[in-house]
Amino acid sequence: MLTAEQIEKNWGEFCENIETYISSPRKEKLLEFYKKYEERIMMMPAAHKKEYHNSFPGGYVDHVNRVVRCSLQQANLWGVEGADMSTFTEEELVFSAINHDLGKMGDEENESYIPQTDKWRKDKLGEDYMFNKQVAFASVPDRGLFMLQSHGVQYSFNEMLAIQTHDGLYDDANKKYLFTYLPEQKPRTCLPFILHQADLMSARIEFEREWLPRLKNSVPPQKENFILTTESKKSTKDKALSQLESKGLKDLFDKL
Ligand SMILES: [Fe+2]
Repeated sequence: MLTAEQIEKNWGEFCENIETYISSPRKEKLLEFYKKYEERIMMMPAAHKKEYHNSFPGGYVDHVNRVVRCSLQQANLWGVEGADMSTFTEEELVFSAINHDLGKMGDEENESYIPQTDKWRKDKLGEDYMFNKQVAFASVPDRGLFMLQSHGVQYSFNEMLAIQTHDGLYDDANKKYLFTYLPEQKPRTCLPFILHQADLMSARIEFEREWLPRLKNSVPPQKENFILTTESKKSTKDKALSQLESKGLKDLFDKL
């Protein structure tokens, strides 16, 4: 969970990324878009199921900011190792990272994730959110790209491809772009791979931060050098025998 201060700080970082990396006049268009939906986006979770990543208020922006940071660092690594970095711009990289999950917001009127109303699911499964049935189905990349274009925010071919395929081969729909052996059909830039790696890395880190401490605390510590000795075998057997009332059964087990 995030504090109100952290949510506010994350929103500052989110807007600062647009100021720093996106050029005018697109910068102003994008800031206008995010200003319009500020309250919704600032408080959105990154997922509606707690088993996914960052499923808490402010989780979406926290995730997106991490993807921006990881994208910049991944791009540096790809460049150092010899990838052709002239095939995309830094603005395209950051624009794709900022908007890769935008489709999670829902449509203009309705949020995709709303507070869970099923008490049983909330109590037993810990689901704080549920999917809003008012929102017509569209994949996250399709809805995100639709929201951008319907608010006059243009994007490049590279950005379209990166946002569309950011889930990599976890989404079968991306096979047409990524699962080809023909060189001419492969992406002409490594931007989609950098974004996918950054997203994967961020989601994994978010999972680790939330779940590893919980899992660690829920597992009873293993006994060190546990050896089944004759003594322990005897005491277990004696304990079992003492609980039997039937003499016949006692004799039977005693011979084992
Ligand atoms: Fe993501």
